[in-house]
Amino acid sequence: MISTSPPAKRSSWFWVRIALVIVPINLGVWLVMITLPASSPAFDPLMVSFIALAALQVGFGVIAAYTGIRQAVRTRDGGIAAAVSGLLLACGGAVGGFFGAIAALFAFGGGGWGRPLRVRGRQLHPELRAGSDWTAGPRPDAEALDPATRRALEALWLHDAQKEHASVPAFARISWLLAAAGAPAELLAWCHRAALEEIEHAQVCFALAAGYGGRCHTVEPMPELLIGELGADGDVLCLLATESLADGCLLEDFNADIAAECAATCTEPATRRALEQIAREERSHAEFSWAVLRWTLDHAADRVGPALERALRRLDAYPRPTAVSRRARPLVQEADADRLRQHGRLPDARWRAAWAQRLAATRERAALLLPATTGARAAAS
Ligand SMILES: [Fe+2]
Ligand SMILES: [Fe+2]
Repeated sequence: MISTSPPAKRSSWFWVRIALVIVPINLGVWLVMITLPASSPAFDPLMVSFIALAALQVGFGVIAAYTGIRQAVRTRDGGIAAAVSGLLLACGGAVGGFFGAIAALFAFGGGGWGRPLRVRGRQLHPELRAGSDWTAGPRPDAEALDPATRRALEALWLHDAQKEHASVPAFARISWLLAAAGAPAELLAWCHRAALEEIEHAQVCFALAAGYGGRCHTVEPMPELLIGELGADGDVLCLLATESLADGCLLEDFNADIAAECAATCTEPATRRALEQIAREERSHAEFSWAVLRWTLDHAADRVGPALERALRRLDAYPRPTAVSRRARPLVQEADADRLRQHGRLPDARWRAAWAQRLAATRERAALLLPATTGARAAAS
């Protein structure tokens, strides 16, 4: 009698091989994705391809595991190795797909002195071109610096300028949400003051970059803002509260911490004054977020309290801003580390330590604001 089905052992390894082929292809897709400019239109299709390939890897891995186990049960010979390989590939696809997508969304790294701007969950900032319409403010004395250090400082301040610029539409969105929630006039006024301060921060950062680099930059248009949504599905009070906790109370307070510490080590007068201004005003932006949080709790503690409790549990997973963006890293490695510090740039180890302190302080302060029962749970978690 002739069997019409292929041997089970060959079949399970066949699926393992297919899943294995996907791994380097998807790694290539991911590497292309994380090297794209922040506003590239190719990002979304690549992200869809990356997730689809990861899902296929999971699917083929599961099939390999199933056929391997079936073979082992039927023949009591072989199949287990293929089943284990399939299971590992399936788990690798799921874990790699999830963390790869998250990492790509935050691939640009590098801290900034402002509120993050997100469209459909992806953090954005404008690309740059030659131009001087966003350059305003004192320029540093860079005469004594070597060319490599000047290039690094230019790149770092340009990155900050991009982030500061992105904070302006970020605050515009918050104003929109506050109005939708019926917030009081003081909160809307504070929100708009913060947006104006972020405009000035961007101008000051562009001026510092021009001083170090000897050339002016300005921003490219951001058409993504026209197609993006507010991302405000669900309860707007809960959204305002949870976003304020992470992007404002935690991040902008951290921005203020770092800017103040950078100012304290900075010996260049124009750069130090800029850092002092940024530190002072970022602290005010953090206080604005605490005020939004208190208002949402006063308004609807029964809904906002549990949402904040959940957000507090997730706070440790918030991506830590890094001292240097991925793009600026090669330039910073060639620069003089002591000179960078004198010009207000601290190493990432200081950022990491300051982040841990700010995270703990934010958790503690937020837990005190929560209703008694949820606050106690949040503080204990
Ligand atoms: Fe800010
Ligand atoms: Fe700022």
